[in-house]
Amino acid sequence: MENKEMAKLERANFGSRLGVILATAGSAVGLGNVWRFPYMTGENGGAVFIIIYVACVLLLGIPCMVSEFIVGRHGQSNTARAFRKMSGGNGWSVIGYMGVLTGFLITGYYAVVAGWCLQYIWASLIGHMQGSPEYFQTYFAELSSDPVKPVLWTVIILGLTYLIIEHGVRDGIEKASKLMMPTLFILLLIIVGAACMLPNAEKGVEFMLKPDFTKINSDVFLAALGQSFYSLSIAMGCLCTYASYFSKQTNLTNSAVQIGVIDCLVAILAGFMIFPAAFSVGVSPDSGPSLIFITLPNVFQQAFSAIPMLGYVISLLFFVLLSLAALTSLMSLHEVSTAFFQEELMITRKKAALIVTIATAVIGAFCSLSLGAVGDSMTFFGKTLFDWFDFVTGQIFLPIVGFLTCIFIGWFVPHKVVHDEFTNWGTLRGRFFHLYIFLVKYVCPLAILFIFLHQLGLLK
Ligand code: PHE
Repeated sequence: MENKEMAKLERANFGSRLGVILATAGSAVGLGNVWRFPYMTGENGGAVFIIIYVACVLLLGIPCMVSEFIVGRHGQSNTARAFRKMSGGNGWSVIGYMGVLTGFLITGYYAVVAGWCLQYIWASLIGHMQGSPEYFQTYFAELSSDPVKPVLWTVIILGLTYLIIEHGVRDGIEKASKLMMPTLFILLLIIVGAACMLPNAEKGVEFMLKPDFTKINSDVFLAALGQSFYSLSIAMGCLCTYASYFSKQTNLTNSAVQIGVIDCLVAILAGFMIFPAAFSVGVSPDSGPSLIFITLPNVFQQAFSAIPMLGYVISLLFFVLLSLAALTSLMSLHEVSTAFFQEELMITRKKAALIVTIATAVIGAFCSLSLGAVGDSMTFFGKTLFDWFDFVTGQIFLPIVGFLTCIFIGWFVPHKVVHDEFTNWGTLRGRFFHLYIFLVKYVCPLAILFIFLHQLGLLK
């Protein structure tokens, strides 16, 4: 008992409110904001999509986020144990284990893409980010199918993550977030400013903001919903793990709203960075990885060609920004498994972090190799291992964990327990408690069920 009490007292936590917001926003702001959101906006009706997206974040994303915060802070432990504690050890504990597994599986594959960003920084520095549009195409194709380079970069970015995580919550995650997030915002503003001053930039702004009501259909809603969950890092164990480091005074609802707003803002600003530049040189923006790794370096090079070296510098700053965004997300993913191994195996943080780094590096290496370096030997049912990780974690596990978390909190945990966490034991007014419970009980699970069935092609 005494030991338990001591462990409780000694549990690490974030040292400040700003630390809480920046670290958690760091998890949320990632590759999803920079490449996926802008492109989806352009494709799905511009301003209309942004409005639907923001509504999804506010009405569905934030309640789900608060639910994870509640479980995490209540449990004061890794995600698996937190669900186990809250459920009293019954079948609902499975959600926590699934969350940890999802976080673990996604780490390696996310690290591969983050590794590409590092390679692009390096390539910019040694002068390789110059050439024709075809050059960029070949460059990316060769990089992603190379057997050595991307694997090496995956290991490097995971190594960097390890160095941060190993230093613990305050000296590692919090310090790094306080340094990296402001840098990311500054870079974002610099590039948005530069892009919006280009000739014809207004066409790009129009592409993002012009509402096209003809594009609204159920697909657009579901796309916005899926994107909002991914972008807020919901159902991966990250929010729950970070919340276990929140203090008893942290206002969960306010924090979730602030993080949601930051995440939306970064996503929208990313659009203002990409589209004005693309439209000013008449390049049509593509989807997926090819947008950032093939189209954009070329766009920046052409758009800023009037001033020598500027295109170069902007491109470099862009990949630094992207790497920072990826690294802060990777930290939160890594922490999910590190906290799990540390507490469940009762080993030191260093050891736990090392196990996670090695295991995820192996997963990452296989994902990377499946993209061409080993032919078709890692392609199953028409999908590479890389695509499988993306599919299974994002489209199967994420909705299942999100759905079950809502049902668990909304229907099974006594409302008194939820209310205590929501209002910090009665010290906050908790005006939105009833709205929150209503959303978590009915609206969120139904919405998630729709996305799930839609993604599996069972609902049109
Ligand atoms: N939210 C991150 C993004 O927008 C992705 C992510 C998902 C990170 C889950 C951590 C956990 O890219």
